[in-house]
Amino acid sequence: MKHLLDFQNIQKKEMEKLIEEILKVDLYKLNQIKSLTLLQFNENSTRTRLSFAIAAKRLGIDIVESTDNISAKSKGEGLMHELETYQSMGIETVVIRSSENNIEDYKNYKEVAIISGGFGNSSHPTQALVDAATLMKLGKFNYDIPVTYVGDLKHSRVFSSGRELLNKLGFKVGVFTNEELIPENTDGLNIFNSWDEVIENSGSLELLRVQKERIENLSSFNFEKYIKHFQLSNEVLSQTPPDFAVFHPMPINIGIEIDEIAAKNEKFKYGEQLKFAIPARIISYRYALGNI
Ligand code: CP
Repeated sequence: MKHLLDFQNIQKKEMEKLIEEILKVDLYKLNQIKSLTLLQFNENSTRTRLSFAIAAKRLGIDIVESTDNISAKSKGEGLMHELETYQSMGIETVVIRSSENNIEDYKNYKEVAIISGGFGNSSHPTQALVDAATLMKLGKFNYDIPVTYVGDLKHSRVFSSGRELLNKLGFKVGVFTNEELIPENTDGLNIFNSWDEVIENSGSLELLRVQKERIENLSSFNFEKYIKHFQLSNEVLSQTPPDFAVFHPMPINIGIEIDEIAAKNEKFKYGEQLKFAIPARIISYRYALGNI
């Protein structure tokens, strides 16, 4: 059993293998796995929750669901007893989405494999795998900077895991945002200061929504200024080369990170990312169960 909480203990070769396996998934030709998974989504989710549920069904893995609200956690139960209980009941993998940044708390417990479905602003490895598979499929890994992230980097778990994966694969990562939304740690990042710099230096970009639920002083956040400088308008998009691609992990807030016309532009490829939602979770279960 192996946790999939981040990419720290995964070698470059192993990450490349995971991406290759995602690209090869045929949803109609899957070897069945007899196992039991617990989906524990403590924050709202559409894509991650459904794709983990559907991936489990396609693999023949049984599903049970719970949340912190209805568990004994509210009675003071600690994590170790919670995980021991899961193990005793035959649960082999737990997919967790949480607002907390506590993936380290899970790492020493080896009897149940924990897969991150998104923790705080620090971890969303399966979205990073979706995005990497999409970049590979669209031929974007031939750039020094295959992707520049634009938007709320500070609060984004998609960005945290995406930069970790791309940096470990040997690629630079570009970023373009305002000073309020830049992460504290900028190691391994190429910081751009204008749309012109972004377009000139990267093969594609990934838009990130402004995470209103995580901004401490939301009432003082200047959305008008943010939109003026960082919204992807169709005018900016029309200056990009024909093979330029724009990605988005979703949910998309039209009118904030992208304007209505750009959101309908064929360079906006969120639909290509969606195609890998289930394959990436199939490979994540297989990885966690030592089946890959
Ligand atoms: N991209 C992503 O994590 O979407 P959900 O919040 O809908 O799962």
